[in-house]
Amino acid sequence: MLSPSFLYFVSSLQDYLMNYIRENIITIDMDTIFQRVDDYINSLLAPEDDALKQTIQSLESQNIPQISISANQGKFLQVMAKLVGAKKILELGTLGGYSTIWMGRALGDDGKIITIELDAKHAVVAQNNIDRAGLSGKVEIRVGKGLELLRKMIEENEAPFDLIFIDADKPPYAEYFNLALQLSRSGTLIIADNVIREGKVLDSNIQDEMVAGVHRFNKLLAQTAGVTATIIQTVGSKEHDGMALAVVD
Ligand code: SAH
Ligand code: DHB
Ligand code: MG
Repeated sequence: MLSPSFLYFVSSLQDYLMNYIRENIITIDMDTIFQRVDDYINSLLAPEDDALKQTIQSLESQNIPQISISANQGKFLQVMAKLVGAKKILELGTLGGYSTIWMGRALGDDGKIITIELDAKHAVVAQNNIDRAGLSGKVEIRVGKGLELLRKMIEENEAPFDLIFIDADKPPYAEYFNLALQLSRSGTLIIADNVIREGKVLDSNIQDEMVAGVHRFNKLLAQTAGVTATIIQTVGSKEHDGMALAVVD
């Protein structure tokens, strides 16, 4: 005869093991398949040349965080830039210039990128990487605070951009979006990185200011009349995240 307490023990153990499998083993398996497919796409469609590889290495050697977009996200931005026929691109958050180089390569001879970076050290490293990629004639790095430099551009009646990539600090993402709209025309494509943060945007009580910032941005995106927008989830070599795409009507 099995005692009730023993049966209770077995059933608790079973619950524990099933939860463990669901939360850990299945996740590990999914991470592996996403990583392997990411590698597959990268090797077919987004191989890095020396300039891109050295950009990633420069972050490592200069102790700068490895928070560049992935190779196939770079290729995605390149496809988007071509799709909108971009001649004039604005980027917020240069880091080492990895995303800048991917987008810069979508531009024709008359194309230009203005990329904004707060950290002077990042800007120096990025300039070196952009020079090495042969893009110094097309890329202008502006060092300063994103909000201030955007407001200045608006005051100075900067002509609208064709593509705007928002990838700087996360708390003011909604403000960046409002300012980006003022630097847009009908047809401008606005892309924002890191708007899902491993699903943390779903939490009912968000503590992390970075997550709160992108959540405010996502709500604003939904409420803004005059843009057609969606969010694409991204998986693979970087953590589970998302990119928002908004085209100005
Ligand atoms: N777009 C890059 C990654 C950018 S990481 C790529 O994918 O290759 C975010 C960058 O934003 C960092 O370099 C950080 O220094 C910069 N940043 C942080 N706060 C900023 C601000 N207020 N204004 C402009 N840049 C800022
Ligand atoms: C962070 C910033 C990014 O732009 C990114 O792609 C990943 C992480 C960060 O600040 O943690
Ligand atoms: Mg990012």
